[in-house]
Amino acid sequence: MILKSLKSPRTATIVQFLTNDTPVALADFEGKTDEVTIRYENAQTLIFCGIGTSSACTTAILRCATAKGIQTIQKLKRKSASFLIPALPLDQNEIEKAVIDGIILGAYKFNKYKTEKSTPLATIELINCAMSRSNIRKQQYINDAVNYTRDLINENASVITPPRLASEACSFKKNTGISVTVLDALTLAKNKLNLITAVGAGSTTPPVLIILEYYGSKRSKKTTAIVGKGVTFDSGGQNLKPTGNIETMRHDMAGASAVLGVFSAIAKIRPDINLIGIIPAVHNAIGSKSYFPGDVYTSYAGKTVEIWSTDAEGRLILADAIAYGIEKYHPDCIIDIATLTGGILSALGEYVAGLFSNNDELAGLLFNAGEKTGERLWQLPIYKEYCDSLKGDIGDLRNISKFKKGYAGSIVGAAFIKEFVRDIPWAHIDIAGTAFNESGTQGIIPQFGTGFGVRLLLSFLGI
Ligand code: BES
Ligand code: ZN
Ligand code: ZN
Repeated sequence: MILKSLKSPRTATIVQFLTNDTPVALADFEGKTDEVTIRYENAQTLIFCGIGTSSACTTAILRCATAKGIQTIQKLKRKSASFLIPALPLDQNEIEKAVIDGIILGAYKFNKYKTEKSTPLATIELINCAMSRSNIRKQQYINDAVNYTRDLINENASVITPPRLASEACSFKKNTGISVTVLDALTLAKNKLNLITAVGAGSTTPPVLIILEYYGSKRSKKTTAIVGKGVTFDSGGQNLKPTGNIETMRHDMAGASAVLGVFSAIAKIRPDINLIGIIPAVHNAIGSKSYFPGDVYTSYAGKTVEIWSTDAEGRLILADAIAYGIEKYHPDCIIDIATLTGGILSALGEYVAGLFSNNDELAGLLFNAGEKTGERLWQLPIYKEYCDSLKGDIGDLRNISKFKKGYAGSIVGAAFIKEFVRDIPWAHIDIAGTAFNESGTQGIIPQFGTGFGVRLLLSFLGI
């Protein structure tokens, strides 16, 4: 799809945003949010998208209305259309960004396994858009990155294996300033990354640890690390997941996909920042070589871990990846993003991700980035009692707490990871509720892989 900025529309399909206080009288249309209507006038198709009261309109409302507009165009099988950028009491640049986001994110379809493909969009015109061409392109790169992340999540688990995630990372190397290191199974074992090795042991596709490095800032040495959980399929291992929970577990690499999405945008935008991406990638399989409940392993950091559930595998691979990342790359702060716990769905549902941190400033910056991009976060505490619940009997730590089943599961998961971050500013984002949408398309959020976290992290990084 090509985005063009023009003074007046050249297509015959025109999308216009209407507030419910606009003095334009349109029969049977009030301009409420979520309302869309199609009118045919002479040779033109006019699509009106409601955005509610102008004083209450937000970029989130605008993104959603735009998505409904582009989805209407797709249903009409039009290849081209023109969007009239609205005037609202919001920052003009933010309005324009929201419309571009809504178009690209709203148009996303995972078509690969449909024999009948939908009509592809050719050209979308932005009418009255003040943004420079290069800024439009940058916004396209950001949203293309989200759609790339969605594709990775939606694709078969038998296609997106740990080595495949590594080859995706390697694809960003060409003329971008990004370098990639892949630690294979043998190297993981040699380096005593025993938790990653243990979780990966049951599968015929071997585990890997992927490191992406980008040093784009000439002025600053400040380096951020982002770590993504890359469980390419989570069967639960010996603690096998039951029917009803296992079917969607190809998306247990959504954190890793978000990190790859961020790097795919960085490869094109080449921003003035330093960033390390760390992806522990494993298939948590059940089989004769799988690790066992009751086993004790020595983590990379040296702490020993009692395995009380092979299904609490995300925290294990993250613990090794974070300890390794801190030791080798000395980042100034570290953020992990992971489909870590089903508990976060009970707490926050599908709309908000869990935020955990040892640093209020970092948590605040991430929270603000989420409010801006609409990938909202809500912080939960990691009090001492939760940390104490992880004390082991024959090892240092248990991988799940002694609490009753289901008690504070998301916090306990975060408390486990916290044991491995030493004192550097750290945040953990639990996207188990937001990464995969089982409830059908809702505005810019498609069914299944959502790409949650890509725009959030890019915004946090100042991109
Ligand atoms: N990958 C799951 C978490 C998950 C659940 C992601 C639902 C997406 C949707 C994770 O590895 C897991 O199995 N967590 C367990 C931990 C438990 C054994 C302490 C959970 O949350 O139930
Ligand atoms: Zn699991
Ligand atoms: Zn998992």
